[in-house]
Amino acid sequence: PHLNVHDYLRSHIRTVPDWPAPGVQFRDITPLLQDPRVFRVLIDAFVHRYMAPELRPDVVAGLDARGFIIGAVVAYELGIGFVPIRKKGKLPFTTVQETYELEYGSATVELHTDAVQPDQRVLLIDDLVATGGTMIAGWHLLRKLGAQVVEGAAIVDLPELGGSQRLRELGLPLHTLVAFD
Ligand code: PRP
Ligand code: ADE
Repeated sequence: PHLNVHDYLRSHIRTVPDWPAPGVQFRDITPLLQDPRVFRVLIDAFVHRYMAPELRPDVVAGLDARGFIIGAVVAYELGIGFVPIRKKGKLPFTTVQETYELEYGSATVELHTDAVQPDQRVLLIDDLVATGGTMIAGWHLLRKLGAQVVEGAAIVDLPELGGSQRLRELGLPLHTLVAFD
């Protein structure tokens, strides 16, 4: 009944109006993870893309918190390591930090200074790109450590919030599976 992966995944994302604040249409990816068949289609879509020699990374960096769920599984399937980019105050070792604005609020993210090596090829993963602030902050952290970010990847793009365009203008390629206007 489903014509393609894009529509299949899109049909399993739940929209919750006015959460966590009035006017926000929250795109909830938990139904994608809950159904094992859908979860596999989702992960395989990313794994297939990043198995290609020209895109194959050395390590996956996942953004706190929903980027961890996708990123860790993709890294495992690719046979490479995973490093977490965490909200401030969670990582125990020395870190680099970056502060940025969100659709609703602001945040600081951190990365361990030994998480990636200079010139390592890194795939940066999150569940969703809204204003792009989170992914740009993660990209800056990885570049501070000298890594080469192959691409940003997310399940969902919210193009009306401008993040995907911002990322591309700054020079970070972005790959997403589903867009919501
Ligand atoms: C959400 C989402 C992305 C980010 C996208 O995370 O998972 O990380 O917002 O927004 P942006 O493109 O405007 O930066 P959230 O901050 O809600 O945190 P959580 O993953 O801990 O729930
Ligand atoms: N993060 C930022 N904006 C979001 C939205 N509208 N839905 C889900 N996660 C988000």
